[in-house]
Amino acid sequence: MLDYNVPGGKLNRGLSVIDSYKLLKEGKELTNDEVFLACALGWCIEWLQAYFLVLDDIMDNSVTRRGQPCWFRQPKVGMIAVNDGLILHNHIPRILKKHFREKPYYVDLLDLFNEVEFQTTSGQMIDLITTLVGEKDLSKYSLTLHRSIVQYKTAYYSFYLPVACALLMAGEILENYIIVKDILVEMGTYFQVQDDYLDCFGDPEVIGKIGTDIEDFKCSWLVVKALERCNEEQKKLLYENYGKADQARVEKVKELYKVLDLQGVFVEYEKETYERLLNSIETLPSKAVQAVLKSFLSKIYKRQK
Ligand code: IPE
Ligand code: MN
Ligand code: MN
Repeated sequence: MLDYNVPGGKLNRGLSVIDSYKLLKEGKELTNDEVFLACALGWCIEWLQAYFLVLDDIMDNSVTRRGQPCWFRQPKVGMIAVNDGLILHNHIPRILKKHFREKPYYVDLLDLFNEVEFQTTSGQMIDLITTLVGEKDLSKYSLTLHRSIVQYKTAYYSFYLPVACALLMAGEILENYIIVKDILVEMGTYFQVQDDYLDCFGDPEVIGKIGTDIEDFKCSWLVVKALERCNEEQKKLLYENYGKADQARVEKVKELYKVLDLQGVFVEYEKETYERLLNSIETLPSKAVQAVLKSFLSKIYKRQK
């Protein structure tokens, strides 16, 4: 179960802990012990990711993940995957206890993980309840709703958490990094817009998963942009075909996305967002922190997976 679900991703989140810690140390050689601890924290985030994904794939009725069938689709697994998710999750405080219990920042680490998990599961809740059968109503889908979903479900654990782990290891107080946190949340929002885009326009062979956002009636960035740009007739088409598990209807929605040039809208969004983020990063006083954020941004800019 662990071998199936923990490795195999891009490791962006885990590796960012080590990268960030190195940059915060401004070129000073890390001791073996420091490298080990940064890796342990990186893996904690990768285990957290595995836990979220095992459960997310059940909730979203997904088919593949990281180029293989979703764990719950394995014949001998099914809903046992729920308990497997809990086992994955349970290991995080166990790893933290094993390697960090004597550190002055141990309590802060535990609290950080706990708060970020609360934010993520809250985001998943909004993501899921907006798609409730019987309440399927596209008129409530807006950029504001999209923002609150993706900020909570993705940005905190994927972007703020790795950098916050590195800051704690470096002896920093997280309350002093509110602006850094805001920028990371913006970056995470951009990352989830990319995820929404790739769900429809990405290559499943490359992203390792088959998109289900249209079938699942998700409040995706694409449907929000489509609603902004469509005429009455196109709006009718969206209302009739969005959120149905029927390949022909899904294709109709994808056709409309193309007619509305959402690919072009995305390219423009990506360029603008990148420049805006870079500008905010350059206003920060610390060059080391700037380097941390720039390194993270360059990892995701124009990503295809
Ligand atoms: C899920 O967002 C975010 C978390 C796992 C917390 P998505 O549902 O869009 O993620 P994918 O597209 O299935 O990877
Ligand atoms: Mn999902
Ligand atoms: Mn997605």
